[in-house]
Order: sequence, then C-alpha cells, then structure tokens
Amino acid sequence: MPLRSADSGKVTRGPVHHPLFARYYARISVTAETRLGMGGVRERMLAGLSGRVIEIGAGNGLNFAHYPSAVSEVVAIEPERLLRQLAVEAALRSDVPVDVVPGAAEALPVKSEAFDAAVVSLVLCSVRDVPRALAELRRVLRPGGTLRFFEHGKGGGRAMAYTQRGLDRTVWPRLNGGCHLARDPIAALRDAGFELGPYRQLLMPEKGPRLPTSYCVLGTAWRPAS
Ligand SMILES: C[S@@+](CC[C@H](N)C(=O)[O-])C[C@H]1O[C@@H](n2cnc3c(N)ncnc32)[C@H](O)[C@@H]1O
Repeated sequence: MPLRSADSGKVTRGPVHHPLFARYYARISVTAETRLGMGGVRERMLAGLSGRVIEIGAGNGLNFAHYPSAVSEVVAIEPERLLRQLAVEAALRSDVPVDVVPGAAEALPVKSEAFDAAVVSLVLCSVRDVPRALAELRRVLRPGGTLRFFEHGKGGGRAMAYTQRGLDRTVWPRLNGGCHLARDPIAALRDAGFELGPYRQLLMPEKGPRLPTSYCVLGTAWRPAS
C-alpha cells in the first residue's frame, strides 16, 4: 500500500515493494502446491496448531486453507501490496478467521505476548534483518508459544555453497523479491533464543535436480517458557 507521509503529504512506497516478483510468485506458488507438493508441506507445518496465530509474510495466503479448525484467529502480516490483496481474497475463502494486515517482520504492528503460535514459510530468506525479525517473533509469542517454520537455506556440497553465495551477492535477491539462498534458518533461530523442537531437512523438489533453493527445513521451535 503506498503510504502517505503525515507531514509532507508525499506518497511513499511500503517497506517491501516487489511488484514484478509478486506477480510471478502469485503464479508459480499456486502451481507448486500440487507439482512440488507444497500443499502437503503446508498441511504438515500447521498440523496441531490452536488458539491465536500470527503468520509473517503471508504472501498470497496459501497457508490459510491448511489451518486446523482449533485455530481461533490468524493475524496475517504481509507488506507487499499485490500479495496482500491476494491474501485478503484467500482469507475470505478460509474456514478459520484470518485478518490480513500490512506490516513488516522487523516491526510487527501487534502487542507483546499476544499469540499462542507464529508461522513463517519461505520468509526468513527475504526479510531485511533476520535477527530483528526473530526478536519481534519472540516478543509477540506468549512464553512457551510455538513457532512453525518451513524455510529454504544453505545446503549441498562446496560447489552448491559457492553457487548460493555467488547468486546472493549478484542477481538473486534483485530478481526474487529480496530472497537469499545461503542463509541458515536453524542457526538464526538458535541465535535468537528459540528452543528448537523437532525439525527435519527436506529437498524441494524431493526428486530430480538439486537447485540452489532445494535445501529446506520444516519444523517447530518454541519461545522458552521463562
Ligand atoms: C517467497 S514469499 C512466501 C510467501 C508465503 N509465506 C508462502 O509460504 O507462500 C516471501 C514473502 O515474504 C514477504 N516479505 C518480504 N520481506 C518481508 C518483511 N520484511 N516482513 C514481512 N514479510 C516480508 C514477501 O512480501 C512475500 O510475501
């Protein structure tokens, strides 16, 4: 959403503005639901959740259809205007109540300790400041609250690591909405003080060529209870 600055009246962009990537992602992400099995991954990521949930970087809202009925409310934060519009449409079709809200992971527009669970899928690769985003997630989760994640990151052998780092330094983030290939989501969660629950590494696609985006982790982490 273009934001109007209060003092100057000047129209400014939102914190994340990737209109071409947004259009591209809206298309390929829907295909990936069945072709790459992303629908099944989303189902596993969200299974067993209940109560109030905050989802960060909700994109076009593809997780919404997979929330269990024990979830009482989802607050879905999405900074990109086109993806947010699509998320609003997905929210209208959702069985659980979903409120789509503009905002960025690094400064969540919600109260502290207000959520039982938080969700990030394919987002930590794209946020500008991972430690700040994870500190915000900890802030808004209640003590003992759970974080469900599905993220891609560094992986493979030396040649793949070299390729991932090279792409990160050059064209990849610019062409892919700020996405990075060589981040380490598990290390970032640990550094941010989350307790890691069960998680597993998986390849996407499971069969076929290994791509720089193939090395994924799916799992649970917790905000420590005290
Ligand atoms: C690859 S898409 C994933 C979308 C969705 N989570 C999914 O699973 O399909 C990355 C998402 O992260 C969002 N994003 C990028 N930077 C962000 C930030 N700083 N705070 C919150 N979301 C961000 C993008 O707008 C986009 O919706």
